[in-house]
Amino acid sequence: MAAYGSQAPRARIFSGVKPTGHLTLGNYLGAVRRWVEVDQHQADALFCVVDLHAMTVSYEPARLRRLSRQAAQLLLAAGLDPALCTVYVQSHVDEHARLSYLLECTAADGEMRRMIQYKEKAARERAKGGSVRLSLLTYPVLMAADILAFDTDEVPVGDDQAQHVELARDLAQRFNQRYGRVFTVPRVTRPSVAARVMNLQDPASKMGKSDDAPEARAGIVHLLDEPDAVRRKVMRAVTDSGAEVTYDREAQPGVANLLEILAACTGRKPAELAGEYTSYGQLKRDTAEAVVETLRPVRERHAELSADPAYVEGVLARGAERARGMARPRVDAAYDAAGLLPAFGAVSPSGGS
Ligand code: TYM
Repeated sequence: MAAYGSQAPRARIFSGVKPTGHLTLGNYLGAVRRWVEVDQHQADALFCVVDLHAMTVSYEPARLRRLSRQAAQLLLAAGLDPALCTVYVQSHVDEHARLSYLLECTAADGEMRRMIQYKEKAARERAKGGSVRLSLLTYPVLMAADILAFDTDEVPVGDDQAQHVELARDLAQRFNQRYGRVFTVPRVTRPSVAARVMNLQDPASKMGKSDDAPEARAGIVHLLDEPDAVRRKVMRAVTDSGAEVTYDREAQPGVANLLEILAACTGRKPAELAGEYTSYGQLKRDTAEAVVETLRPVRERHAELSADPAYVEGVLARGAERARGMARPRVDAAYDAAGLLPAFGAVSPSGGS
């Protein structure tokens, strides 16, 4: 297995997960599993627990700390290997926030207001009677900073994040046009199946980790759910009227979701699996077992890591140190290009005056 810096320059990959709730099967199948199985082996990859992003809606500080630690443990439990990639916590590396401001000066308010997640989440906050934090609007700019600070080539995410990666591309290009080429323009990569795992109780909505409505919760499989809870949730999944099992996201969204989950867990194709089932009951039973088996090693390893907090803290400390060293020159170059006076006594990265 190749380690850091071997042979030819490798692509740089960056991705992250937000500790707003317990990680879900959607996070795993849509993103984390690919980071583990493919990305960390093929590229110089960084994976980040993006805790600053969890502050854009009201939250409880003690819970944020717990969830951040748990998310880091789950990334390692899922198989991210600190010998192959960099795992760290966003707030440990100042360059994210430092670059975000420059990109706020690059983005336009109209393009931020058009972001789908902003519109949905702001509507939800208003419906709860709360005010909308300004950071919810500027959140995709911070996400662009996460990506651009590291000269990222590829950003592996699920479908719901594609629009934000597009924005990162636009901001990189705009900044480069205005001030000279500083940033690599990143591209999004998505999994071929399970790029959008839907809520089992409502196949029209994404399976999201921070959904707190009770009906929605019954349709979310968390990575740390006990096997019986997983079975119960999958067996109660809403399916469609009609008796046949076909893979059709429009006509049979509930069944299509189960087929995608089963396909992602078994390495098969959803349409091919559809032909092997004549009843919803059997499809649910097989999907439940496939999910239980997929999550079993992650749960077991997570339990071991929970008993060894010093190990996890060491990994995060080394990860943050490495990430800082990687981001600093790029962010300094952006400050310099944008016309900010280099700090007294510091050497300008371009050598300019
Ligand atoms: P987050 O924490 O919502 O999700 C983490 C990853 O999981 C994917 N995902 C899903 N994939 C398929 N089906 C689902 N139901 C599902 N739910 C979530 C997401 O697409 C994502 O890849 N803004 C990001 C975090 C972030 C980030 C970044 C990602 C911050 N900075 C820079 C990439 C690069 C987010 O909220 O992800």
